[in-house]
This record gives sequence, structure tokens and C-alpha cells, in this order.
Amino acid sequence: MNILRIDSSVRVQNSKSRELTDFFLKKLSIKQDFNLKIRDVGINPPAFPTDDFIKANYTVPENRTDEMKSILANSDALIDELLWADKIVITSPMYNFTVSATLKVFIDNIVRVGRTFYIDENGDMQGLLNDKKLLVITSRGAMFYGKNKSLESFDFQESYLKSVFLFMGISDSIFVNTEAQDFGTAEMKMINFEHSKNQLSKLSKIW
Ligand SMILES: Cc1cc2nc3c(=O)[nH]c(=O)nc-3n(C[C@H](O)[C@H](O)[C@H](O)COP(=O)(O)O)c2cc1C
Repeated sequence: MNILRIDSSVRVQNSKSRELTDFFLKKLSIKQDFNLKIRDVGINPPAFPTDDFIKANYTVPENRTDEMKSILANSDALIDELLWADKIVITSPMYNFTVSATLKVFIDNIVRVGRTFYIDENGDMQGLLNDKKLLVITSRGAMFYGKNKSLESFDFQESYLKSVFLFMGISDSIFVNTEAQDFGTAEMKMINFEHSKNQLSKLSKIW
């Protein structure tokens, strides 16, 4: 069993998403053996795609020059890690109602025709990361799904991640969202954090 962990918080200390993921993987290791790779795009984000990157990407592999291959090399390595994994755990802080820029630039590097999706004979796009499981552990400063539902429609993080990974073929995705970590009362913060730990604890027995 191969697990790829992708961290994306720019926080090195006191990151709730990182802490919960440490907790989950520790619990999971009691139940099963696995090989773990960690890709930290919070601390080491990949480069933004450039004009040259796009040209190289849209050139069929057999026509790519050595320069084009080297422009795509880092993106290829990121995709190879995804292909290696049976299960993927993404840790995602919410920044301005969606994923961090660090996670978005990672996604811009991995959504690639011929590698993570392809166009079929009818012109439809099909994912290539089928049969993988995805767990996303998010952390948010505010409360989006509490009694006050006014912020629910601002959650572009879960819907975005669910959609982009479904586009690449991953339909088995689970989200554990940890809310009120910055802007709630101390009690709300603790209740939400413990609730996520409970969810992760249960999940570690069946995932
Ligand atoms: C740049 C930035 C933008 C943020 N935007 C939001 C937001 O839109 N909604 C929210 O609930 N929290 C927001 N927060 C708070 C973070 O989601 C919160 O601190 C979360 O715990 C971050 O995850 P981490 O602890 O793993 O770093 C933001 C924090 C930062 C640094």
C-alpha cells in the first residue's frame, strides 16, 4: 500500500491541517502497513506554469525537444508520485475561501493531458487516476457549516478539490473539515478539532 501525503499549509508550526494528518497517519499505521511519501508544497511550492511549459505540454511526447522535456521534468515527477500512490492524503488550509496558492500551483502542474486525463474518441475528457482513494483534511479559521449557515456558499475549497480530482478520475474522496480554528471561541475551536480527530480515528479503521 502506497500513500502520498501532500501538505500545503505555509505554516510550519501550529498548522492544524498538518497536526491532524500526523494524527491520522499514526492511527492508520496501527491498522495497516504502508509506504509513505511526503510532498510538501506549502514549504516548497512548484513553479508556476509558463508560456514554455504550456508549449511543451501541448507538444506530443515524441516531438518534445530536450529543453521541453526538462521544462516538464518537475511536473512529471509530481505526477509520477500520484501514479505511484494507492491513496492520497491532502492537507489543505482554507485561504480566502478556497485552497492555498501553494496547492493551486501544485494542481496546475499535475492536471495534464496524456498524464492525468485524456481525450477519448468522442472528444470527452476522461481521468487517468482511477481506483485511487483521496482523503482531504482541511482547516479553516471560521465556521462554514455551523448554526449560522450564512457562510456555507463561501466554501469553494471542498467543491473545487472534489471536482478537480474527480476530473482526474478519483471519485472516492472524503473530506474532514476542521472549522473555527482562528475566529471561533476557545470552546468552538476545541470542539471542532476534537470532532475531526474522532472522524479521523474512525476512518483510520476502514480507509
Ligand atoms: C492568507 C490566509 C487566508 C485565510 N482565509 C481564510 C478564509 O477565507 N476562511 C477561513 O475560515 N479561514 C481563513 N484563514 C484561516 C486559516 O484557514 C486557518 O488559520 C487554518 O487553520 C489554516 O490551516 P493550517 O492551520 O493548517 O495552517 C486564512 C488564513 C490565511 C493565512
